[in-house]
Amino acid sequence: MTSQQPSFTAGQVAPGRAPVLAMHNIRHAYGHHLAVEDVGLEVRQGEVVCLLGPSGCGKTTLLRIVAGLEVLQRGRVDLNGQAIGRPGRGHVPPEKRNVGLAFQDSALFPHLSVLENVTFGLESLPGRQRRRRAMELLDQLGMGRYAESYPHTLSGGQQQRVALARALAPAPQLMLLDEPFSSLDARLRDRIRDDTLHVLKRVGSGALLVTHDPEEAMFMADRIALMRDGHIVQMGTPRELYCAPVDPFVVSFFGEVNELEGVVRQGRVDTPVGEVMAPGLPDGSRVRVMIRPEALRVVALDEPPADHHSHVIMAKLLGRTSLLHICAHAGGGRESHLHARVPGVFLPDEGQPVTIRLDPSQVFVFPADPGAAAGAGAAHGEAEQDHREYAYGHDGQ
Ligand SMILES: Nc1ncnc2c1ncn2[C@@H]1O[C@H](COP(=O)(O)OP(=O)(O)OP(=O)(O)O)[C@@H](O)[C@H]1O
Ligand SMILES: [Mg+2]
Repeated sequence: MTSQQPSFTAGQVAPGRAPVLAMHNIRHAYGHHLAVEDVGLEVRQGEVVCLLGPSGCGKTTLLRIVAGLEVLQRGRVDLNGQAIGRPGRGHVPPEKRNVGLAFQDSALFPHLSVLENVTFGLESLPGRQRRRRAMELLDQLGMGRYAESYPHTLSGGQQQRVALARALAPAPQLMLLDEPFSSLDARLRDRIRDDTLHVLKRVGSGALLVTHDPEEAMFMADRIALMRDGHIVQMGTPRELYCAPVDPFVVSFFGEVNELEGVVRQGRVDTPVGEVMAPGLPDGSRVRVMIRPEALRVVALDEPPADHHSHVIMAKLLGRTSLLHICAHAGGGRESHLHARVPGVFLPDEGQPVTIRLDPSQVFVFPADPGAAAGAGAAHGEAEQDHREYAYGHDGQ
């Protein structure tokens, strides 16, 4: 989202757009295991909302509750202003909810061709229109030439695209998508999610899309609900979550981050890469300073300064960016190992003296409260492998 576009935060309703889905105080347990607690969110007409979070945080459970595949235990679900779920008030079955479902394992009808699978939910249209609409979607998702094929002859990724076309075909007011691109290889995934985004926007459906991939969420979403352990930790536009994260978990979920420790002195923290602002944090308190690798601006020096200086340990080309491992020196012999990500090809030799400047907009300071820190670490679970946190705080304090 660019700065010119309006941004809507969790509590705001976009002007002129009614909520197609509203969830209030949802709580859901499987036996004694509490999967979701106190969740509230809205999806407005034409809006894509992503449920993002590590494995097991409750994303699919929420989607299944909206779809009617789980009986609501506590809270309330409204679809187009009508309560479709209230505990103890009868259960509206999935087929009566007028929502499109594309789940990870959406099975196609094996005895129907690809085209027949997609036209299946379009009985209300005359035959020719039904076919035209189905072909249009199949073409958009790159499956037009398989219209007469049968599901068992398709790859997993092709089947997933047909399932997506089938779910989108009736232009439901609400689409529920659970990891709908997970069986596609990286290149195809980029294309299909782009196509899906355009189809959703053209059709004007609201969509609730589950993913554990932060980049996918940022690509698809108007708003993201980042979840951890059954709760929404932060809800807002991609820009709000990336640029104004509410806690360390949110920062590190969006990618690797350098982490340092420090002490607040007069609203600032001294770090090996310069002073950072710590507004609102009490003097003398210990803090975690989280620095995104792209916040480090690295400048190669022709001549090393006489005293200690920062230098390059290693440089790797990652494609669009280069990753530099830097040994950052500060006063008092303090050193930190930091990762800097710079655009393009920038591969200085090992030992190259450098200076480092900070982009303060990608530096975040949080109280070093051990309870909060432990919570963030534990909640990462499997996501930690993908979004490794680099905690190199050898600053001798
Ligand atoms: N049918 C079930 N019976 C018992 N526990 C379940 C059931 N379904 C899910 N759970 C548990 O509830 C929690 C939330 O599961 P859910 O499937 O909603 O997570 P998720 O965020 O979709 O994870 P993933 O990204 O791995 O798909 C998990 O701890 C899971 O083990
Ligand atoms: Mg899931």
